[in-house]
Amino acid sequence: MGTLDLIRLLGWTTALFFCLAFFNYVVKVVNKRCINKLGKEKKQFVDNYRKIMKLVIKNHKLFGIIALVTMLIHFYVVFSAHLLRLTGIISALLLLAIVILGVYGAFINKNKKGVWLKIHRILPFILLIVIIIHATFRQS
Ligand code: HEM
Ligand code: HEM
Repeated sequence: MGTLDLIRLLGWTTALFFCLAFFNYVVKVVNKRCINKLGKEKKQFVDNYRKIMKLVIKNHKLFGIIALVTMLIHFYVVFSAHLLRLTGIISALLLLAIVILGVYGAFINKNKKGVWLKIHRILPFILLIVIIIHATFRQS
């Protein structure tokens, strides 16, 4: 495996765990808007959906931390190979801010009406766009 393959593997692993952490929001919205409106005949499907939803919510912090760790390794390999990207640095700073806010909200502030959660909820949307640009345009 060449260095570029390793960089890409680590990049996609980071993107995957970022998406899994982001799903904390997606599963709740889908549950509220769609799943809650399904009738009794869809009970089996609803039960299965809720099981997956609980799994996503329960592991949210873990997914976020794994995304940070794989990003740091991705960054280390990229840095060692002298291959920095501006979109990569922006992604790294956004992910770092999201994780710091998450840790602050989960263990220090704990108030779910706090400003931390508003910012923690908005930043992933911006990061998602930056990651798409980062993974699509290899020169940026
Ligand atoms: C949230 C953080 C990040 C994510 C999710 C991410 C994701 C990715 C992904 C998915 C790829 C593979 C794209 C492809 O298939 O060609 C990639 C490649 C790369 N990333 Fe990142 N990245 C992140 C942070 C960074 C940082 C901090 C840097 C460096 C400052 C960086 C530099 C690079 C470079 C140099 C490549 C290789 C591009 C190429 O194929 O030539 N990334 N990244
Ligand atoms: C890739 C990193 C992360 C992303 C993309 C992310 C994204 C989100 C989003 C979108 C929400 C809002 C969900 C809702 O509307 O209820 C949320 C909630 C929350 N996040 Fe994160 N997060 C990340 C990492 C973390 C980390 C590392 C922690 C703590 C260690 C954390 C702790 C929390 C907490 C406590 C909530 C409040 C709601 C709940 O408990 O589910 N997050 N996160």
